[in-house]
Amino acid sequence: MSLPNDQGVQGIQAGESVEELKAAAVAALDSADSSELLESWRVGFMGRKGRLTSLLRGLGSLDIDERKVVGASANKLRAELESLFEERVNESKSSQAPVGSIDITLPGRRPGLGGFHPSTQMIREITQAFNEMGFQTIEGPEVELEKYNFDMLNIPADHPARDQWDTIWVDDPTHNDVLLRTHTSPMQARTMEANDPPIRVVVPGKCYRYESTDATHEWHFNQVEGLAVDEGITFADLKGTLYEFARRIFGPQRKVRFRCDFFPFVEPGVDMSIDWNGNWIEILGAGMVHPKVLENAGYDSTKYTGFAFGMGPERISMLRNEITDIRHFFSNDLRFLTQF
Ligand code: FA5
Repeated sequence: MSLPNDQGVQGIQAGESVEELKAAAVAALDSADSSELLESWRVGFMGRKGRLTSLLRGLGSLDIDERKVVGASANKLRAELESLFEERVNESKSSQAPVGSIDITLPGRRPGLGGFHPSTQMIREITQAFNEMGFQTIEGPEVELEKYNFDMLNIPADHPARDQWDTIWVDDPTHNDVLLRTHTSPMQARTMEANDPPIRVVVPGKCYRYESTDATHEWHFNQVEGLAVDEGITFADLKGTLYEFARRIFGPQRKVRFRCDFFPFVEPGVDMSIDWNGNWIEILGAGMVHPKVLENAGYDSTKYTGFAFGMGPERISMLRNEITDIRHFFSNDLRFLTQF
């Protein structure tokens, strides 16, 4: 409906009868279905320059008898229109939804579904493979003591092997032996210190190194450590366990290669590579737990032997998912993350 604001002004029509005005006002009021239109109706008919007010003002020009008749019906109309208007205003108020209410007729909004980070997915897959082989998953502190990160792992302060791990030290005025762990291996020492054999654990968690980043190196990344200690554990157990792990993660046909490597806390030490499109890609370091490490934890190294390993889940995920740059993992870019 159209009811211009100045209808009252235009509506000062010479000779407009009370009946005509009533018909127009009632029809306009019926179709005024918003608070704006109701207000515009009020101004147009009942306002200072409204059509009814103008009609009442024009009474003075009528002769006395006519004035009495028209005046009476115009005043009656004013009372009628006022009460009709009030009714419409109340109606429109009660039909308006209260502030903050929900329009149940609108289509629903699909909630954004989250998912596990690709590192978490890989860690879970790796730990599950070992869980099924009898290893228990445990976790340890990321802020670590020098004692566990180095000393108990047969890496004394003056040992050149410390240079292998560029350490981020924690600035603590009362202690100068607090650091962000450079690998998950300190959990070997902590686990042996707190438990008697047999031990079979895997330890996923974050590590930090003070090194520059490139496509295959991050300054913070995850590792999954493994440790098995018992009577009679041999290198064959280490090989068998890691072969089985590679088959579970990379498929039964995947070729695996061991080569000698050096880590102060194992003897002998190896690295394991897998065949990737004709190239050998190193995925982990491993070895038989060094007798000194067993002794440091209070174990009798003539009675117990064990093996340990440490791998990088981001590197393994890169191989599996053909990711060319490790820095994608922690760049918080949803275009990358939502692909997993
Ligand atoms: C170690 O950290 C040893 N603690 C592993 C170990 C455990 C050996 C138990 C023997 C017995 P290394 O520095 O090579 O070793 O790291 C192990 C794995 O962590 C690497 O194979 C790689 O997958 C991952 N890794 C190491 N440095 C980075 C880095 N800067 N960014 C991403 N991944 C890394």
